[in-house]
Amino acid sequence: MLNKKSAVALLLAGAMVFTMVGCGNKDNKATTAAPASEGASGEAATGETTTGAASNAGEKKGATVLKYAFNQTLENPEAQAVLALSDKLYDETDGRYSIEVYPSEQLGSQAESLELIQAGTVEMGMVSNSIIEAVCPDFAITGAPYVYESDAHQKKLFESDALDEFFAMTKDQGFEIIGVYSLGARNVYSTFPVKTPADLSGKKIRVMQSDTMIKMMEALGGIGTPMAQGEVYTAIQAGTLDGAENNIITYTDLAQYEVASEYSLTNHLMIPDMMVISNTVLDSMGDDADVLRRLAKESVTDAFERCESLRDGYFEKATKELGVTVTEVDIKPFQEACMELISEIADRNDNTKAAYSAITGAAK
Ligand code: GCU
Repeated sequence: MLNKKSAVALLLAGAMVFTMVGCGNKDNKATTAAPASEGASGEAATGETTTGAASNAGEKKGATVLKYAFNQTLENPEAQAVLALSDKLYDETDGRYSIEVYPSEQLGSQAESLELIQAGTVEMGMVSNSIIEAVCPDFAITGAPYVYESDAHQKKLFESDALDEFFAMTKDQGFEIIGVYSLGARNVYSTFPVKTPADLSGKKIRVMQSDTMIKMMEALGGIGTPMAQGEVYTAIQAGTLDGAENNIITYTDLAQYEVASEYSLTNHLMIPDMMVISNTVLDSMGDDADVLRRLAKESVTDAFERCESLRDGYFEKATKELGVTVTEVDIKPFQEACMELISEIADRNDNTKAAYSAITGAAK
């Protein structure tokens, strides 16, 4: 996807090393919204859950069950990879730990759940790169448009340790990133097809809540409207939004085709989804913390393989059964429109330069 030559050209000399040890202000917040009310309020991070949830755990229940905030369905391959990880964690800690996934924003939107994780009220969760950007601004580069070439590129990068030092910056914000998944390329969807940036002119398109996402949508031709995932369906239905953008798995699982059946292959973004865990929880786990870190990293391969095996089926179901029209798009004009933004982000400081270099270095 990336126009590598022109993008790399902006990476001038300069040390390709990470220089920052943290994200700056220790009290950075992903959101100013009130914490989630359901399920999360007031529970201490003992790991033991008290609310009766559906079958959202692995097969094995540990002595301590770590709550995992997730904003989509349990059928989602990311949730399935976490549940498989849970059973391995149970086995390798002799039953001391397992994980329970709370789907559909039960523990709040991603921004809200990140705050709860920072506070240690919720143990773990899946939080997109764009939300982490609010507490660690340098993450703009790992969530920039058109910087990943393919699923294979991302898989190789996130299986490697090339960005480990970069990701470790979040530790001074109260949480650690122990695994990075992705649901694949995101595309614009609406009630009309989008073939050129001009088709998005004056259109309000929902984006995830970050500065980069707003700027990205502006570059793509539209008006970026930041919003939590849980509100998107009704906002499109009500006409507050003209559309949104997402990968085919999320688009289908969350039935967004019911309100926006034109899915246009702009392929503008592949957002990393971070498996995050509260420092407080990791600190309380003793040697088991390293077991979890290792298993989480290993689960990256599993998550990517699950997505890969499902993706074609999602496209087929969308077009054949769900009334979705998929439009092929010449992505060049969209890509070119984003080059300045990519350069500006990559060139911000030594950390963003080094991260960008790690990203491009993993491309095939
Ligand atoms: C994708 C991504 C999520 C993100 C969601 C969104 O599904 O994997 O992490 O929250 O998009 O657009 O909000």
